[in-house]
Amino acid sequence: MTATVPAGTRADSSGASPVQPGAAGLAVPAQMSLADAVEMGLVAAPGSAGSAGLAGLPVAPGHISITGVSCYYGSHLAVADVSLEVPGRAVTAFIGPSGCGKSTLLRAINRMHEVIPGARSLGSIILDGVDLNGSGVDAVAVRSKVGMVFQKPNPFPAMSIKDNVLAGLIIRGARPRGSAADDLVEQCLRRAHLWDEVKDRLKKAGDSLSGGQQQRLCIARAVAVQPDVVLMDEPCSALDPISTLAIEELMRDLAQDYTVVVVTHNMAQANRISDVTAFFSLAQAGQPGRLVESGPTGDLFSAPKVAATRDYIEGRFG
Ligand SMILES: Nc1ncnc2c1ncn2[C@@H]1O[C@H](COP(=O)(O)OP(=O)(O)O)[C@@H](O)[C@H]1O
Ligand SMILES: [Mg+2]
Repeated sequence: MTATVPAGTRADSSGASPVQPGAAGLAVPAQMSLADAVEMGLVAAPGSAGSAGLAGLPVAPGHISITGVSCYYGSHLAVADVSLEVPGRAVTAFIGPSGCGKSTLLRAINRMHEVIPGARSLGSIILDGVDLNGSGVDAVAVRSKVGMVFQKPNPFPAMSIKDNVLAGLIIRGARPRGSAADDLVEQCLRRAHLWDEVKDRLKKAGDSLSGGQQQRLCIARAVAVQPDVVLMDEPCSALDPISTLAIEELMRDLAQDYTVVVVTHNMAQANRISDVTAFFSLAQAGQPGRLVESGPTGDLFSAPKVAATRDYIEGRFG
């Protein structure tokens, strides 16, 4: 990615009707609240401005080098000095006990951490050679390259399935029309393994779908803006086992084209779906979370280097 906003992705108020001004001067469609837009990672809030070896894995597009990243909430250090290589076109799982900073680090990767009042992060996060925290890099541009899917599926309930897919473009004032829109919607819904289930009801509301379908719709929405990276924070924890398997299969499939980073509490899931696993922990509640170790998933699960990793994956902690 480049330090400038790719053509056609910056929102403006031309063409999109009716709109309300977003915090960063962006257009937010009237049916979408600004809070929703911020939560989706599409609009910046006001004022936002040593790694484990992965021998054998080629450097693919979408590679992320995280170096010395620390994240604060006010004066509280939540994530301390993380350095980690996240391979492109692969699935990386973040595992570790609650409170160790997995979600915080994930949000730092697409510059959503800084949206929280008083929150800030230090260190560098380099995606394909560009420091996402670098001066002059626009947080909104970062979020179009680094998409996010949350634990609870959050389609826009009042929008149709079709418009939900297009929401990221609509909010940027770049809504495609006619057959271009139809083609993109089909392509993204196929990518999200949802097309066959919804192709005859694209005008129905987003919340008319089951939880698992809604989560796949959110994935279709995330890929519609052509990101390089898709971040997922416990994307299956609100879903039934069948829907979970569908999302797992989808995550593997997405890794052919995107860098996928998934936070999961499910060890079996991390083992099944990820190429690389990063284990985070903290000395005790309230202490900062740290990266304990990371490496190819098979190695980390079969021969962890650190006793704390073994204890966690064998269920003795957390
Ligand atoms: N919005 C917030 N404001 C203040 N502290 C927060 C906020 N979100 C998380 N934290 C704190 O940051 C630490 C890491 O939290 P989190 O990233 O949610 O961990 P995990 O996802 O691993 O469970 C915890 O101590 C948590 O209380
Ligand atoms: Mg979390």
